[in-house]
Amino acid sequence: MNLSSDAGTGHVPVLLKEAMGFLAPASGGVYCDATVGLGGHAAAILEQSSPGGRLVGVDRDAGALRLASGRLGRFGERVLLVHARFGSIRTVLEKAGGVPVDGCLVDLGLSSMQLDSPERGFSFRHNGPLDMRMDQSQGETAAELLRRVGVTELESILRDLGEERYARRIAAAIVAERGREALGTTSALAALVARVVPSRERSKDPATRSFQALRIALNDELGEIERFLADVPGCLRPGGRLVIISFQSLEDRIVKRRLRELASGEGRDGPRLRLLTKHVVVASHEERRRNPRSRSAKLRAAERLPS
Ligand SMILES: C[S@@+](CC[C@H](N)C(=O)[O-])C[C@H]1O[C@@H](n2cnc3c(N)ncnc32)[C@H](O)[C@@H]1O
Repeated sequence: MNLSSDAGTGHVPVLLKEAMGFLAPASGGVYCDATVGLGGHAAAILEQSSPGGRLVGVDRDAGALRLASGRLGRFGERVLLVHARFGSIRTVLEKAGGVPVDGCLVDLGLSSMQLDSPERGFSFRHNGPLDMRMDQSQGETAAELLRRVGVTELESILRDLGEERYARRIAAAIVAERGREALGTTSALAALVARVVPSRERSKDPATRSFQALRIALNDELGEIERFLADVPGCLRPGGRLVIISFQSLEDRIVKRRLRELASGEGRDGPRLRLLTKHVVVASHEERRRNPRSRSAKLRAAERLPS
């Protein structure tokens, strides 16, 4: 198996070897890739669990699922792709007839397809409509959120979800600007942030934190992780494995805390987990060099204990 291949999609799966090591897919097993994306990790799970392993692949982005379905077509009926949020993992797996699973992987954040498509509005590097929805079939866009939200709420979003120290200034500028002209594009928002953030902060693009904050808020990304972590232990078979890859500190903090609680059994009924990663696993120098996106990746893994 070629563990570094992106099979022409341009998306290189992060920490692939490490994720497969913890998940240990085997023939006859049932696995869930709760963020199937472009199918990179999923293809490796299916190859490693050949000939009899099955996979339920979940993504809230219908465009990603179309690409994954092309990439995973060769595995035929061993794969079932579901358009859903991983926050409702239990319902999704129950409907798919996949409970309990032998392993579940979550690779958080955005795929390169989402980041690099200007029309998705995720990146300040490309001009496009300020959309930022992972699931474009529902919910408000970032432009709509910016038209609706009050200044105090906007400030908290920028501060709490973007760790932006100039949250108040940016929020005030957005609210003032929208009175004159709607903030409808990524370039307009990036230019506004650049105008109000002091120039000494410009080692990193000044819009980075604001874009992160709006994307997390709009897609309720932290709520999704909380709901997933509440339900997934009960979806694992005893001995089944959970592997989580996160890309920013807010996500990793939630994952770390919740896995520790599940491992210690603190005040909770329900399945217990055993941590497989005492310390967080990060990408090797070689992977960081080849794939800059891997530099912020953090992997944690756990195993369900017998009841
Ligand atoms: C980093 S990409 C996954 C890439 C994938 N591992 C691969 O190798 O191609 C993350 C994917 O998770 C999806 N996603 C993010 N939050 C989600 C959620 N709450 N429910 C379902 N999918 C989600 C995104 O739409 C995106 O396609």
